Amino acid sequence: MTETLDIQITKTTHSRLQETDFDNLPFGKIFSDHMFVADYADGEWKNFQVIPYGEIGLSPAISALHYGQAFFEGIKAYKHADGKVVIFRPDKNAERFNKSAERLCMPTLPEDIFLQSLAAVVDIDRDWVPTQDNHALYIRPFMFATDPFLGVQPSATYKYMVLTCPVGPYFSKTLRVKIETNFTRAAEGGMGFAKAAGNYASSMLPGKTAVDEGFDQLIWTDARDHAYIEEMGAANAMFVLDGKLVTPSTQSTILKGVTRDTVIKLAQEWGVPVEERRVSVAEIVEGAKNGKLTDAFGAGTAATIAPVGSISYNGEEYFLIDPKEREFSQKVLKTLNDIKYGVIPDTHGWNFPVGE
Ligand code: PLP
Ligand code: COI
Repeated sequence: MTETLDIQITKTTHSRLQETDFDNLPFGKIFSDHMFVADYADGEWKNFQVIPYGEIGLSPAISALHYGQAFFEGIKAYKHADGKVVIFRPDKNAERFNKSAERLCMPTLPEDIFLQSLAAVVDIDRDWVPTQDNHALYIRPFMFATDPFLGVQPSATYKYMVLTCPVGPYFSKTLRVKIETNFTRAAEGGMGFAKAAGNYASSMLPGKTAVDEGFDQLIWTDARDHAYIEEMGAANAMFVLDGKLVTPSTQSTILKGVTRDTVIKLAQEWGVPVEERRVSVAEIVEGAKNGKLTDAFGAGTAATIAPVGSISYNGEEYFLIDPKEREFSQKVLKTLNDIKYGVIPDTHGWNFPVGE
């Protein structure tokens, strides 16, 4: 039985809602009025609060800043035409949240606290959930170590917080991607499967190098041979090759995406053959050359279904068919949107209603 969490709520006295331009929502820059905060100390979670969004005071010695004991999640809430607000598959994020926590030697958070914290911030700021096509309220839960101590050891205290941002799509155009064969995102035994802050820190130099070369995203490859596709910078990599949905299997180096899982489930229901396996760079390049690669996209919460327009490898750029002509990713994007925005029935139980 889930117990109702005792959350202390302090509402803002000055909402920024009226002064926010919902026609101009750069990703992750505009925050809604409130945020959720909880503390971990003495072996338990406590002080559950919703407070106005704003700065928090912290010691400059907290170990999150020095040793990166920090991780996050990314989830979206959608508004239906009748005003109902839903959060998409947050139970999957709760599960992954705790996998990240365990890998980083941080305390887990009971699923019901996670779900109730999301519901609390989304409900209080439900007027911040955008209604335009492909827009949503992005939910960013995160946890970080707060012991003011410079020794390298797991902290005894932590903060868990949830921020929300009204957003449009993360990528505004068809992606020009580069297969990375120099830098590595994650190796076996590392923390690639966790949504660790440090994974994103280590991706910044390779990501910036790619952007400087004119690319939008990287496709990471395996640490040992750089011969197998892993994932993209902020999304899982999915392909339609020879009529099959092909995607790298998620072992320890790849983030187990919720969107990826959703796309696989839909494909299976539609009778599209699905292969989760090692995917070689060679077969993707070959497919791009001989036309058997009929679709390629990034799948992620922020990214949604982000079409890949061209793939570059070893200085050669291979162009794929126009995204508008792609049967699979067009259908998957439409179906996903129709479920999330309540246009068609949610037969999978993926939408968690807020405030009912
Ligand atoms: N891989 C990485 C590195 C990501 O940051 C994300 C985004 O969350 C994903 C994959 C896709 O995961 P999800 O669909 O759960 O958002
Ligand atoms: C998400 O899709 O939620 C992500 O975490 C991507 C993010 C790094 C922008």
